[in-house]
Amino acid sequence: MRMRSIPDAADRIARSACHVANPTAMKGKWREHLHVSGPLHVEIGSGRGRFIITMASRHPEAGFVAIERFASVLAQMVGHIPEQSLTNLAVICMDAQILGECFAPGEIDLIHLNFSDPWSKVRYEKRRLTSRSFLDLYRMVLSEKGELHFKTDNADFFEYSLESFPQAGWKMDNITRDFHAEPLSEGNIMTEYEVKFSGLGHPIHRLTARPDGKET
Ligand SMILES: C[S@@+](CC[C@H](N)C(=O)[O-])C[C@H]1O[C@@H](n2cnc3c(N)ncnc32)[C@H](O)[C@@H]1O
Repeated sequence: MRMRSIPDAADRIARSACHVANPTAMKGKWREHLHVSGPLHVEIGSGRGRFIITMASRHPEAGFVAIERFASVLAQMVGHIPEQSLTNLAVICMDAQILGECFAPGEIDLIHLNFSDPWSKVRYEKRRLTSRSFLDLYRMVLSEKGELHFKTDNADFFEYSLESFPQAGWKMDNITRDFHAEPLSEGNIMTEYEVKFSGLGHPIHRLTARPDGKET
């Protein structure tokens, strides 16, 4: 993501009613914090938040946590949250590497990876959000019927992920290399990147996955 440096990013984030400054203290308590009894969704790498803010507005019964590691990006997201703040949305500025410190085992129902950075160079493979160490982390925090939804316009990253999920013991479903042409995309909420790249004519690749052996 092209980043505009925002000097007062930390202050802007701190002023948002959705901001959680100490996410480790919320471990196991996210639903309580968000006043919901429905499913808990987490988006990793939320960018400017188009997807998760729309999801939270449309689904008041569910809880949503947006994770973004760059304060300057998150500061832009909080600027887009409607004035009457969404009580079912939390935003955190952190690296997903510490997910296990912030969520209890089985606490999350749905993880969204939308247009994650592909980190094309092999030496950066471990930074890819569908690499083995991240998939093992997600497995721990997903509920028994928990799922992950992954969308990208990057064909190489998608092909890599088609191998990494089964290698880590995940089952994949709904695999498509042209999501917008599928009936399944009805009601799809587009992210900023999705708007941009589909507008340029790039097909959107998508799959859903769940850790094998978790489901009842
Ligand atoms: C390419 S942008 C996509 C943004 C948005 N999801 C969209 O589709 O428009 C990827 C975002 O993921 C964030 N990101 C990448 N790795 C991350 C990590 N390990 N933890 C948290 N955020 C991460 C980046 O800072 C960036 O804002």
